[in-house]
Parts: sequence; C-alpha cells; structure tokens
Amino acid sequence: MSLAAIESDQAVEFRDVSRSYDGSTGTIHALRDVTLSIGRGEIVAVTGPSGSGKTTLLNLMIGLDRPTAGEVITLGRSLNALRERQLTAFRAGSVGLVFQDPHLLPGLTALENVVVARLPWRSRRELVTEARALLVAVGLDARMDFPPAKLSGGERQRVGVARALLGSPPLLLADEPTGNLDDETTQDLVALLRELQERFSLTLVLATHDQTVSGAADRIVHLVGGTVRDGSDHEVAAMGSPSAGDVL
Ligand SMILES: Nc1ncnc2c1ncn2[C@@H]1O[C@H](COP(=O)(O)OP(=O)(O)OP(=O)(O)O)[C@@H](O)[C@H]1O
Ligand SMILES: [Mg+2]
Repeated sequence: MSLAAIESDQAVEFRDVSRSYDGSTGTIHALRDVTLSIGRGEIVAVTGPSGSGKTTLLNLMIGLDRPTAGEVITLGRSLNALRERQLTAFRAGSVGLVFQDPHLLPGLTALENVVVARLPWRSRRELVTEARALLVAVGLDARMDFPPAKLSGGERQRVGVARALLGSPPLLLADEPTGNLDDETTQDLVALLRELQERFSLTLVLATHDQTVSGAADRIVHLVGGTVRDGSDHEVAAMGSPSAGDVL
C-alpha cells in the first residue's frame, strides 16, 4: 500500500464514521455516524460538552485512533488503508499538533524544544534555522534561549505552536489549546493562530470549550453525545457566537 494521494479538494472528510468502545458496563459510543468535510485552508472549531467526542474526532482525523465503522480521508489519503508505520510517517510530514499543555522538556531551551520535535531525516542545522524563524513568527525572538521555567504559560504555548509547525505541515490540530491560559493570553494565542493560518495557508482544527476560540473560527462543528448537532456545521458569521448554554 503506497501513500499515494487520492483526488480530494478537502483537507478532511469523514464518511459515516463511528468509534465505539466495548467496556465491562456495555458499549460506549464516542462518535456515531459522523459525516463532515473540512476544506483546505479552513478554520474549524469543534465544540461540545465534555465527553461529546471532540478529542476522539481529532484523533481519528490523523490516524491516532481508528474508526469502528466508516472512512476517514485526510489530505487526500484514506487512513483506514494505512498501516501504523505509514500513519506515523504521514503525521510526521503533514500534521502539527498543539495540546492544552505543551509538555516542554525542562532541561532544554525554547529553541531546543522546537527542534527536538521530530523529522529525524533532516539535518539539525536546517531544523535549527527553521525553528528560529518559527520562534520569531510566534513572537519569541527574545526568548529562544530561555528554559521553559523562565517562560510564561502563554509563551510556553507559543513554543508548542512553533514546534507543531516545524516542517511546514499543512494541517494543524489543536486540542484545548487555551485550556491553561487566562482570557487575555487566550485572545493573544487565538490572534496568533489566525495569523499563522493565513501566513502558512494552514487548515486549522481546534477542539475547544472557549468561546473566544470558537468565535475566531470560520465554522463550528458542535458535538453532542458523539454526533454532530444538526445545523451546527455552518459558518460562524451566519449563526453568531454560540450561546453560553452551548459550550459546557
Ligand atoms: N480509550 C477509551 N476507552 C473507552 N472509552 C473512551 C476511550 N476514549 C474515549 N472514551 C469515551 O469516549 C467519549 C468521548 O471522549 P472524548 O475524549 O472524545 O471527549 P471530549 O469531547 O474530548 O471531552 P473533553 O471535553 O472532556 O476533553 C467519552 O465518553 C469517553 O469516556
Ligand atoms: Mg477532549
């Protein structure tokens, strides 16, 4: 099986995707019959109560998890058909990941934390040059040699964003990227993500409980109990910000 891409102008397509888990107390349906498309260059927020399936959806998008039914096509590749090793290679070259906590290595500088990420086939020298440029892009020109302990939470998260963008992946997924940040830092990070999305033509998918984050998206996919809520999958501008009751 090769990594050859199939024709698709979508960044992500879910076709009737379900993911369930068999437990001692019965079957848990983390996602049920999800069909959706995310266009290249779109910013999509995935919202919904805790346990509604947001992280499961993101994991399935990049083959960190496999569906129990249905098909996932990401960047023109049908992930069902790929073996683990191929999925690992696919993610390394095409996907950036940002988490709630960037888990920076304490003994390394900001710059080293970006370089250490992945891409073992590239020269360190080349990676360092790229990492420096990315740290400038996230506004950390003056902090490159700082260890994580001397960075603020917002700065640490920016290092995490720079690390995710090493190697120019076209798809950036962020799972609760502002979960540890205060309101002002959240706004700054959201502005930065929008700027980077435009600059690098990224497809950006953000799982979030935060209305500042979802309000900055082009579109909201709202999950309830593992299904996409009817009518949620459309443009933010058309529906306005979700009400407080929507985002638990
Ligand atoms: N490995 C697993 N085994 C069993 N159940 C799981 C597993 N992973 C997730 N689930 C269940 O699937 C459902 C969806 O979980 P998921 O982590 O996707 O929710 P979420 O929307 O990301 O929640 P949160 O907002 O708390 O991060 C939950 O009921 C969860 O308990
Ligand atoms: Mg989650």
